[in-house]
Amino acid sequence: MLIVANWKAYVEDIKKAKKLFSISKKLVRATGVDIVLAPPAPFLGALAVRNKSRVAFAAQDISVTTGGARTGEATASAYTAAGATYAIIGHSERRAAGDTREIVAEKIARAFANGLTPILCVGEEERDGGGRYLGFIREEIVSAIEPLAPKERPKIIVAYEPLWAINKTAADAISSNDLAEMTLYIRKVLAELLPGKGSQHVPVLYGGSVEPENARLLALDSGIDGFLVGHASVDPASFELLAKHLA
Ligand code: PGA
Repeated sequence: MLIVANWKAYVEDIKKAKKLFSISKKLVRATGVDIVLAPPAPFLGALAVRNKSRVAFAAQDISVTTGGARTGEATASAYTAAGATYAIIGHSERRAAGDTREIVAEKIARAFANGLTPILCVGEEERDGGGRYLGFIREEIVSAIEPLAPKERPKIIVAYEPLWAINKTAADAISSNDLAEMTLYIRKVLAELLPGKGSQHVPVLYGGSVEPENARLLALDSGIDGFLVGHASVDPASFELLAKHLA
């Protein structure tokens, strides 16, 4: 199981950042789960640069630019230098702030060019009875993966994050039956885009109100390879419990 802890802007002091990192180091040793931490950029720099543990680091987003006179931007190359090995790309909170599908595709190219594994987020705003949301998910995946070279495609990670389930509670998250159905659908779309057996190696994650209360149930029989966790990843007790439930 892969757990990506998306700290968003919840963590605002270095003491808390260090505490969450030290808990994560213990958890990877004790439980065997893989943990990727996505802290706000200044804390990523502080924690990842001398990291020798099995805990890995992700940028929460990267710049679409390649550097230069771009105040406020942090490039993929800067994140790599700071110790990140992954980048979350196309999170709904970044799409809401202006990331189009074209920008998402460009950011994925920047990530690959700089040795970062992209975690592509896709997710519908709401579920209609007619199943149109499936077509929407397909378009988000195709527009991000089609521009990639065949050898890059199997190296991507896909995170399914329905917008209606984000930042709520376990009771509002997806049901495990619906998640199993969506995982199968995403795998079908990936199989069309990746030649041969390539798609079988692409991890598919779920995100949206994963908490200690529902993590184990969602992991069972859903075919999911891990979770992208927001609010429950910044509360030390919740995060510890969640990881233990997935061990
Ligand atoms: P949440 O966030 O776990 O707080 O719902 C998940 C995400 O947006 O990545």
